[in-house]
Amino acid sequence: MIKYFKEHKLFKIDTLNTTYAFKVVYDKYVSHLYYGKKIANEIKLNEMYNEVPISFAAYPKDIGVDFSLETILTELSFFDNGDIKDVAIKTEYNGSCVTQFEYKDFKIYDGRVVFDDMPYSRNGDKSLEIIYFDKISKIELHSYYVVYYDTDTIVRFIKFINNGSENITLRKAMSMQLDLPTSDYNFGYLVGEYYNERNYLENPINVGKQSIYSKRGHSSHHFNPFAMLKSVGSTETLGDVYGVEFVYSGDFVISVEKTLSKKARLSVGLNDETFSWLLLPNEEFFTPEVIMTYSANGVGQLSRNFHDHLRNNIINPNFVNKKRPIVINSWEATHFDIDEQILIEYAESAKTTGIDTLVIDDGWFGLRNSDNSSLGDWYVNKEKFPNGLKAFSEKIHNLGLNLGIWIEPEMISPDSNLYRKHPEWALGDINRERLLSRKQLVLDLCNDEAINCVAKQIIDTLKDVKLEYIKWDFNRSLSNAYSMALPIERQGEVKHRFQLGSYKLHKILTQAFPDVLFEGCCGGGGRFDAGILFYCPQIWTSDNTDPIDRLKIQYGTNLAYPLSTISAHVSKTKNNDIETDLDIGLRFAVASCGILGYELDLRKFSNKTKQQLLNLNSLYSEIAELIINGDLYRDDNMISVVSKDKKFAYIVFFNFTNSSQFNLYNLGLDKDINYIDTLSGKMLKELLNCNKSFDVKETYKLLLLKEE
Ligand code: DGJ
Repeated sequence: MIKYFKEHKLFKIDTLNTTYAFKVVYDKYVSHLYYGKKIANEIKLNEMYNEVPISFAAYPKDIGVDFSLETILTELSFFDNGDIKDVAIKTEYNGSCVTQFEYKDFKIYDGRVVFDDMPYSRNGDKSLEIIYFDKISKIELHSYYVVYYDTDTIVRFIKFINNGSENITLRKAMSMQLDLPTSDYNFGYLVGEYYNERNYLENPINVGKQSIYSKRGHSSHHFNPFAMLKSVGSTETLGDVYGVEFVYSGDFVISVEKTLSKKARLSVGLNDETFSWLLLPNEEFFTPEVIMTYSANGVGQLSRNFHDHLRNNIINPNFVNKKRPIVINSWEATHFDIDEQILIEYAESAKTTGIDTLVIDDGWFGLRNSDNSSLGDWYVNKEKFPNGLKAFSEKIHNLGLNLGIWIEPEMISPDSNLYRKHPEWALGDINRERLLSRKQLVLDLCNDEAINCVAKQIIDTLKDVKLEYIKWDFNRSLSNAYSMALPIERQGEVKHRFQLGSYKLHKILTQAFPDVLFEGCCGGGGRFDAGILFYCPQIWTSDNTDPIDRLKIQYGTNLAYPLSTISAHVSKTKNNDIETDLDIGLRFAVASCGILGYELDLRKFSNKTKQQLLNLNSLYSEIAELIINGDLYRDDNMISVVSKDKKFAYIVFFNFTNSSQFNLYNLGLDKDINYIDTLSGKMLKELLNCNKSFDVKETYKLLLLKEE
């Protein structure tokens, strides 16, 4: 799995289908050799090392003019050390940012280094640690490669140790770099905005640098910390594709650079524009990790690698395979207009439909009747719940439903008791203007007192309430990122410390409620990333639940994240005719390709529609297991989820023209299995074996296939 070939000073990392290789040259530098389809022969890998002299390149005197860090492929690059491309690491020592790390040693061991303050991939088969050293500043840098053999994934991150006697400052600390010998790739990424998150885009890599990033203090609606490099012409099933996914929820940057000599460099890490870190003697600093994968069989396989990796290693193992609730959430139906009576009527109207959990969304706490107050005051509003939440929960459970509740613990309203008592606990310099967004400020999560106070309030309020689900929202981006709790010289650390504080809060609350399923949310889907998935097994995907828009949003999302993480509700948006058969059926078809739920006032629904909901929810219960742990296959307007043993599959076709031709060829089915579509009673043998197309005239069509 990880081998060191001493004679070539060559490291070879193998996963089931891939090889990653690099070597030490001139005893000092670490040169990247190869990443791609598995190669058995290390000699062939060794021969890939290539020096190309170019004019104006800087070179070390003792090696000579043919060698330059500007032209060889490297594993990591350092600021102002002969590589003028987009470098991965920049440190400041004694006023200078010249950064000169040299190879020192390596270690290979079982398992991996575990983070205690950040999300990370659990398990890990083997680790390789490459140690670099800067002899002037005495900083040691450890670059890690953790192998996940079966999923073809390699996790990468870096540790810095200040072994000197002077302070140093980290100015840029990317988690990984991948140099590729050619640049014939398209850069694929997810882009969007509120209500239209994660649309897929791709463009050829051009000479120069392109990046996607966040500076908002959350991974954002605008870009997602996921990207691909696709060989030109690659498709869902064909071609070389490299993918990276950052396990982090705050400011990030993923950049790709094409050099004039037509090489490519991909880098992933903390956004250096909003990051610096003071490292005192003997202190250590870990970067967050990146999951990296390669597929020789197109984007579909790349997605499945990520899906399996996230399910096996990131999502809480106590929940990853658990049946998820089918919720009815109050938000889209009533917004802040909730109270005990209305919600009980909701629960009563839902209980015959197969929905199993009522979620009280925003508005149950403090004096919160609109979005302009009470964040930070996490006590129950007695006017709305005169008997308290415990008694309310008992009533809901007596009706046969479970209960969920909404929180937004990382925020503070200027109109709140907490702010009146502790204005210094909001992010931003108290002597400057603090900008509002959704009428709220952000709690300073660099401050442990603020974290503990909010956590305690929420725990005290909810600890005696029988609860099965918590929706964790985050409704604004950060601005004026200044912490009153940090000294002047650490203000460059605010964004990352805020993120670490957010993870601390996630850890405290998820540990306080170990049996409760947490769902992440961020004003729709503004924080959909692998960092949040470590604490919240599912995430609200978008406030936009229009089925056509959602298909695009969910397609982008499932490129990187498994269906079991994609929370998808049927609700009224854009039109009000949801009680028509088509509309409710189409909305269900889209939402069933994720974790199904509802946001509707069912009190107004006819018994006929409720019966229809019951039928749809029963169907969903049958496929729920596939959504949780099946393999995803996509084709134009088709989604297929297939069990690992191939005996069971759920396929959805969407057709927005008069009639469309579909076939079952690329949908992950096994030609040797006789499938029967249990919804129509039809056998599919012929369609599958002759690769015949068939006509779909309906707007959507569902197949539920089982081995005969
Ligand atoms: C934004 C979320 O996306 C909505 O679902 C809802 O929870 C509101 N916040 C509540 O303020």
